[in-house]
Amino acid sequence: MGSRAFIAAAVSSALLLLALGLPNPAAAAPHLPWAAQSLRLSSLPSRAPAPAVGLSYETHYLVQQVDHFGFDVNLTFKQRYLITDQYWKNNNGAILFYTGNEGDITWFCKNTGFMWDVAEELKAMLVFAEHRYYGESLPFGNLSFSDSKHLNYLTSEQALADFAVLIEYLKKTIPGAKNSPVIAIGGSYGGMLAAWFRMKYPHIVIGALAASAPIWQFTDLVSCGKFFEIVTNDFKKSGSKCSETIQSSWKAIDRLTSTGEGLQWISEVFHLCNPLRSQIDAIMLKSWLAETWVNLAMVDYPYSSDFLMPLPAWPIKEVCKYLTDPSASDKILVQNIFRAVNIYYNYSGEASCLNTSQTATSNLGIQGWNYQACTEMVMPICTTGISDMFEPQEWDFAAYSEQCFQEWGVRPRPSWIPTVFGGKNISSHSNIIFSNGALDPWYAGGVNENITDTLVSIVIPDGAHHLDLCARNADDPESVLLARTMEVDYMKKWITQFQGHR
Ligand SMILES: *[C@@H]1O[C@H](CO)[C@@H](O)[C@H](O)[C@H]1NC(C)=O
Ligand SMILES: *[C@@H]1O[C@H](CO)[C@@H](O)[C@H](O)[C@H]1NC(C)=O
Ligand SMILES: *[C@@H]1O[C@H](CO)[C@@H](O)[C@H](O)[C@H]1NC(C)=O
Ligand SMILES: *[C@@H]1O[C@H](CO)[C@@H](O)[C@H](O)[C@H]1NC(C)=O
Ligand SMILES: *[C@@H]1O[C@H](CO)[C@@H](O)[C@H](O)[C@H]1NC(C)=O
Ligand SMILES: *[C@@H]1O[C@H](CO)[C@@H](O)[C@H](O)[C@H]1NC(C)=O
Repeated sequence: MGSRAFIAAAVSSALLLLALGLPNPAAAAPHLPWAAQSLRLSSLPSRAPAPAVGLSYETHYLVQQVDHFGFDVNLTFKQRYLITDQYWKNNNGAILFYTGNEGDITWFCKNTGFMWDVAEELKAMLVFAEHRYYGESLPFGNLSFSDSKHLNYLTSEQALADFAVLIEYLKKTIPGAKNSPVIAIGGSYGGMLAAWFRMKYPHIVIGALAASAPIWQFTDLVSCGKFFEIVTNDFKKSGSKCSETIQSSWKAIDRLTSTGEGLQWISEVFHLCNPLRSQIDAIMLKSWLAETWVNLAMVDYPYSSDFLMPLPAWPIKEVCKYLTDPSASDKILVQNIFRAVNIYYNYSGEASCLNTSQTATSNLGIQGWNYQACTEMVMPICTTGISDMFEPQEWDFAAYSEQCFQEWGVRPRPSWIPTVFGGKNISSHSNIIFSNGALDPWYAGGVNENITDTLVSIVIPDGAHHLDLCARNADDPESVLLARTMEVDYMKKWITQFQGHR
């Protein structure tokens, strides 16, 4: 599978909760090192950092400036990157460069099977570059997340500069790489970085594949409600009365949790690790459920997978088998909701209890992403309760900003990303493929129209979050096979053009 549910998942935990005006659970432990963050969630096979069978690469580190954009701070840190040249033609053959996003790079390396699948055909070297402040690439070690001073160098612009410096270094030091064409590839936030990298450093990368990259999920560029409409449609399509049942469940939960006895009853039905004690806990439960439905929409893959959690093929269909009766009694309805979420949290059969403080985003650097969401990456999301199956919630920037200030001592600047990367006005750029799965909620903020002949959009109707970056699978739908073929064709064309011009 590709480096799938990314930003998506991270945003759903951080932004969704912020958007819903709820305390962000990640805020409860903001000073844990990244590794501890990942450990506090149950360990699953997909989270093992070791390379999967068959993937062999070398791990290296490059000394980078902490601040590329000023001269006062002359500190450095080690950026990790993974590299393999087993398929590379060392006479200026292509380099596929994964622009790492918000997590440990070994995880993206393992989950971006597409790059491994096409390496031989493109005779390409593969490089996976870790994003600063994630994995091992911590500018201030333990202290990286300690305060806004240490976090000050966590921006997408600094990350892109690291990538540029790394590529120049590789070309200089690897014999035969000097004139290699480099293509940026990324999924989710990594896809946004891939696209932006091509925009800002067109002399360094000849093109970019930006998979499920919501570069338009920013203030005033797209409607904030579309995200949850897509989630709702996925459930609507996957079972009769499925979305209606979820829609009815919120009020059923409200009614049941209005008494102490009801709080206790629900805690038992849901096998909660920590029983609900108050109305606030009940709100947390609903928010956790909402996030679960969002995550399912991101990972609604055609085969059994364990990207966020081990799941069956087409997991929403499985979930919807329990969600067929919106007018059942409150208790029956809530029991059915439990059966449904249990597919998500306990498909392995190993969960001893369900923990509403835990989200399914363990492999992501939650702290780093929360900070990014509180500075540059403000991605408005809202619900109406009419065009979606959720409780209505407006996008409340003031509350969002306040939460950020409390958590990090900084306030977000929502217009900066459109200013620095062009918002909708990107037609002066070239050679970027924007691929999006129509089942993926992040499709809402993606580029889903062809802007020019070389800024192209590929829509995968049966795809969830960057399905195209996942490894080949016998159950791949036709639409993703077609998308991958087109992607490889574009890349070959860029390479040929580049070689023709030299
Ligand atoms: C900055 O650091 C580099 C190496 O880390 C060193 O060579 C250089 O002299 C330093 N510059 C200043 C102005 O301190
Ligand atoms: C992080 O902190 C721990 C304990 O405080 C210490 O043992 C370790 O060396 C520190 N690591 C770094 C990279 O500073
Ligand atoms: C998870 O599934 C196993 C096996 O079916 C079951 O014994 C266990 O109670 C379930 N856990 C939860 C939290 O429901
Ligand atoms: C639930 O998750 C939170 C946050 O990860 C953690 O602190 C807590 O220990 C967990 N509770 C149980 C009972 O596992
Ligand atoms: C986009 O930018 C170009 C100049 O680069 C300008 O002519 C055009 O009006 C802009 N379009 C929009 C929609 O802002
Ligand atoms: C963009 O153009 C390509 C090539 O003509 C086409 O295959 C694709 O469907 C177009 N994308 C959209 C979203 O119309």
